[in-house]
Amino acid sequence: MIRLLYADESIRLFRELVADGKVAGYLGYLKAHHKETGDHSERVGLVSIDLGHENRHSGDELRLLGYGGLLHDIGKYRIPLDILGKQGPLEPAEQRIMKGHPRLGFLELSESGFEPEEVGQIVVAHHEYKKDPSPRAGMDRRQAQPQGQPLHGRQSLRDVERRAPAGNISALAQLVAIADISDALASRRPYKPPWPRERVEQTLHEQFRGDSKYIEQIMERL
Ligand SMILES: [Fe+2]
Ligand SMILES: [Fe+2]
Repeated sequence: MIRLLYADESIRLFRELVADGKVAGYLGYLKAHHKETGDHSERVGLVSIDLGHENRHSGDELRLLGYGGLLHDIGKYRIPLDILGKQGPLEPAEQRIMKGHPRLGFLELSESGFEPEEVGQIVVAHHEYKKDPSPRAGMDRRQAQPQGQPLHGRQSLRDVERRAPAGNISALAQLVAIADISDALASRRPYKPPWPRERVEQTLHEQFRGDSKYIEQIMERL
């Protein structure tokens, strides 16, 4: 369980953001599809805001962090449950589909006209600060469409997806990324117990490729 250091302010903004009808709708879809991912998304939203307070981000940036954390895995509602809920390791073809979820989330938000649009840039980048990043780094169009099949009828990556995030968006995406990785390690999941603090720290040093000060900040909360 990740503790909050700015609990009152973080919870206040979190409640405001989840009361937004569009966000509530998305979280409802996600929980109905796979409750575990919905619960994880709420925790990541809250911790992302809390980290934003520590890094003195502006009010607008705190909102981007909250929306980005809450919606970072929204693309998973398009991932079949036999892949999303699989207990054992994924086959290579399943991994490719799973790795498409940041891109699917971006497309969902952009096609629905979600604002602020920077949220989509955080969503598409949330796996790019890992040792084994996805979806843009090293990914060509063929890989984006496993086995030559367009995902959900979409034919191509959009130019905006392929742009590197601007400086402040990158910082916000890194905070969502570390909240995401840490929650997955430190929480109980159907396939694993919560990992002890030392193992989380060691894994973050191995896996997280963003600013290392964020590792120290998340470790203060564990
Ligand atoms: Fe994700
Ligand atoms: Fe996640």
